[in-house]
Amino acid sequence: MADFTGRKPYIAGNWKMNLDRMTALDLVKTIKGRLGDGDDREVAVFPSFVYLADVVAVAQGSPLGVGAQNLYFEEKGAFTGEVSAPMLRDVGATRVLVGHSERRHIFKEPNDVMGPKVAAALKADLLPILCVGETLEERKAGRTRQVVDKQLKAGLAGLTPEQAHRVTIAYEPVWAIGTGVNATPEQAGEVHAFIRGKLKDLFGIDASQGIRILYGGSVKPDNVKDLMAVEDVDGVLVGGASLKPDLFLPIIEFDR
Ligand code: 13P
Repeated sequence: MADFTGRKPYIAGNWKMNLDRMTALDLVKTIKGRLGDGDDREVAVFPSFVYLADVVAVAQGSPLGVGAQNLYFEEKGAFTGEVSAPMLRDVGATRVLVGHSERRHIFKEPNDVMGPKVAAALKADLLPILCVGETLEERKAGRTRQVVDKQLKAGLAGLTPEQAHRVTIAYEPVWAIGTGVNATPEQAGEVHAFIRGKLKDLFGIDASQGIRILYGGSVKPDNVKDLMAVEDVDGVLVGGASLKPDLFLPIIEFDR
């Protein structure tokens, strides 16, 4: 039986299609210099594919994790423009985002590829963050739970409790991403508790207690503490504010 104890706070920076090589490496150096031993919190950055190897090299010797923003579920073959899980491992990435809302909504990635992507990541020993979340329209129509449920079931399809324990969930309401309007702690808490309940249905109480659920969407230094105080919020997935040391460092170093 896997060890399902403890949920160390997880602060992840999704850089999206931002930063040039120099700026990315400078930012990694700065974060690395401030991390300490990483005992009480886990920090990771998700740069563009093309900078992964360089970022991994700079992060070496520190607890800073490095991951990709996407992957394809096949290992190799005629899939022009795609990147596989073994390729990500090969350049030193240890994590990967799956199903970010920008992949789902801008690039029309269907919900049913998320399960194969999560499975491919785990097979290559990458730790996936499965992103879920409703649009404003879906929230207004009272469909938040239904949407999140469907995304969780597809993304976690076929996993054993031991495998699920290596997955992190990120709840990112689409209406809160890049808008400056974060979900309130109450709104986040409600959906996170719902997700925890679904994880329990799928994988049992022990595994569900060990899986971290991050919140993402307009996380800033001035709201991180309140969000992190919510019972089922185990970390944050940060976009815009992860691009600048003066915003990302205070988020990483939030007062527990
Ligand atoms: P913002 O923090 O810029 O709202 O982005 C959130 C996000 O999409 C992280 O994956």
